[in-house]
Amino acid sequence: MKIVKTVDEVRVIVKEWKKEGLTVGLVPTMGFLHEGHKSLITRAVSENDRVVVSDFVNPTQFGVGEDLESYPRDLERDTMLCEEAGANLIFNPEPENMYFDDFSTYVNIESLSEELCGKSRPIHFRGVGTVVSKLFNIVNPDRAYFGQKDAQQLAIIKRMVRDLNFDIVGCPIIREEDGLAKSSRNTYLSKDERKAALILSKAVKLGEDMAKAGEKDTDKIVSEMIKLIETEPMAKIDYVQAVDAVSVKPVKEMTAPVLVAMAVYIGKTRLIDNFIYEG
Ligand code: PAF
Repeated sequence: MKIVKTVDEVRVIVKEWKKEGLTVGLVPTMGFLHEGHKSLITRAVSENDRVVVSDFVNPTQFGVGEDLESYPRDLERDTMLCEEAGANLIFNPEPENMYFDDFSTYVNIESLSEELCGKSRPIHFRGVGTVVSKLFNIVNPDRAYFGQKDAQQLAIIKRMVRDLNFDIVGCPIIREEDGLAKSSRNTYLSKDERKAALILSKAVKLGEDMAKAGEKDTDKIVSEMIKLIETEPMAKIDYVQAVDAVSVKPVKEMTAPVLVAMAVYIGKTRLIDNFIYEG
């Protein structure tokens, strides 16, 4: 498996593959890979002849005061995981290779970016849309893979690919055995915080059970989830909200598909989790 650092190198390699008639899958990541990423890579490997994993902590999706500098990085470990999962190429550029000093073009997915995480992270999804578009243009994949854990990101990317004629595959959330959704940011949690973080998946389960049992009022579901999260002293809710899973606009009734999503601080770490009610 190869690791390349520049846009030009990736383009040369992918062009060769395409000349041979091989299909190419792309798994965009910010590195510090875990089982969730591995599930995306494994799926990509099973559906494509060659798989590129981008491993890039993208500065344009971090706001001032967010964790750009401290975001965990471990290329050696990532390389092992990619090798195990059967990827062919890691694209690990430096920010200077992705963004010119006078970079001035952004992909902004209007409306869907304003809800949920967009409220406390106003430039985040513009950065995601921009870097994902760049990766699509650099790698020119036949398919690209994104996880359901970042549900708003997935909804936004689905809208972007629909609007701009790209093509992607959404994949389910991968959880730890005790239910915590896998995330590179879990590494920030102390032992006690790690325990406290379970309140997110417990709240997801509660909400999902209520929906499955036939509760149609999203306010009732959300308020029960909030009540449960508030029993955990280390948790501070950013939001818990029910939105239409396609438009990401708030909904009052559980008319599928509904995305019930949350962002909760455990200490200083902001974690997200969600479920989608498909009816
Ligand atoms: O989900 C992530 O890790 C990032 O937002 C992505 C899609 C790789 C873009 O930087």
